[in-house]
Amino acid sequence: MPATVVLGMQWGDEGKGKVIDLLAGDASWAVRFQGGANAGHTVKRRGEKFALHLLPSGAVRKNVRCGLGWGMVIDPDQLIGEIEQLEEMGIEIRSRLLISPRAAFVLPCHAARDAAEESRRSGETIGTTGRGIGPAYEDRTGRRALLLASLLDEDGKKRFDAAQAGAGDDAVVSDAAWNRWRETIGPLLGDCAAAVHGALAKGERVLLEGAQGTHLDLFAGTYPFVTSSSTLAGSACVGAGVGPTAIDTVAGVAKAYTTRVGNGPFPTEAAGKDADRLRTKGFEVGTTTGRPRRCGWLDLPLLRSSVMWNGVTEIALTKLDVLSGMKEIPVAVAYEESGGTIDTVPPSPGALGRVRPIYEMWPGWEEFPSDVSRFEDLPSSARRYVRKTAGSLGVPVTLVSIGADRKASIRCRIDP
Ligand code: IMP
Repeated sequence: MPATVVLGMQWGDEGKGKVIDLLAGDASWAVRFQGGANAGHTVKRRGEKFALHLLPSGAVRKNVRCGLGWGMVIDPDQLIGEIEQLEEMGIEIRSRLLISPRAAFVLPCHAARDAAEESRRSGETIGTTGRGIGPAYEDRTGRRALLLASLLDEDGKKRFDAAQAGAGDDAVVSDAAWNRWRETIGPLLGDCAAAVHGALAKGERVLLEGAQGTHLDLFAGTYPFVTSSSTLAGSACVGAGVGPTAIDTVAGVAKAYTTRVGNGPFPTEAAGKDADRLRTKGFEVGTTTGRPRRCGWLDLPLLRSSVMWNGVTEIALTKLDVLSGMKEIPVAVAYEESGGTIDTVPPSPGALGRVRPIYEMWPGWEEFPSDVSRFEDLPSSARRYVRKTAGSLGVPVTLVSIGADRKASIRCRIDP
């Protein structure tokens, strides 16, 4: 069985964690291929709640092996904290975790640079997560990054210190911290790409887990209001060391409405009571930063571009329950731009800030009964909402999520 890429089709926070959790039931590996601790996925277990930022969402399934690919940037203290937190919850992870030594470090100096660059941007901040992601990738692209491989070198600390010389107090790493990283992370470093290939060769299913979302992609997104890695399906190949021929499924995760954290264009952003309602009902608060998310309506042109750029083969539509109780629901079916109509995002990133969404009002529905488990059990207008979404995007919807619980998920096949 080949690989499945799971990625966000909007601006992140689409509920990928839950979808991955469901798909991981059939997978032997879950591998992150880009980003760092800017991502956030809340895990609930025995009444306890905490967020994973670096480990794949598949980590909570005890029979799934986990990989951190070389496309990632990794904060070692954050990683150790997550490993220990999982273990405190009775989830053993070290024996099934493999980290690529080619992944780059995120260090305290990167977070400091992230903050300094944001304050320099003054009027037009990006609204980053403050986790040092941009500066860490800048160092990678500038070929001066420190890779996790240095933890394996006998004289790694010496070379690390030499590379950091003159970079300021934030860049100083104590011997104690280095030794802790070396002892904890060193044994977990290994050939993640080869292990994944081994699993694929045995016919096992591998999940390649995207973080953030399509429109935060460094190249395709709403530049400069983007993250510093590529979030597209192709990036799974680059960041995990898997060739495109190994991938047979690209599962795009889209919320039944749209949210965004941080700044940048958002054509279907709602205001006032509408936005408050979505935010409250959908618990739309950032997992990493605690910031309230900007909320708005389903944006089909945005999603059409995501389908195209990622080669999405199936869609998981999440949080449909949040729209319950509305008489009518606005859905953007196209954009008006310079007097014409377009049905995908415009080619210039800034132009997305100038389009006017063309809305259709789709009929709403009452609250869902508590025991819905089949697509047929959903109210007819909710079914219509899903069908019209699949039809407008030309891709089947194969999962509808109607609540945070694993059980509140409807597997289906709604063809366009
Ligand atoms: P950075 O990735 O911290 O540099 O932040 C760049 C932009 O991406 C900001 O708008 C962030 O709010 C956004 N962002 C980064 N990670 C996530 C995520 O996991 N979910 C949603 N937005 C994110």
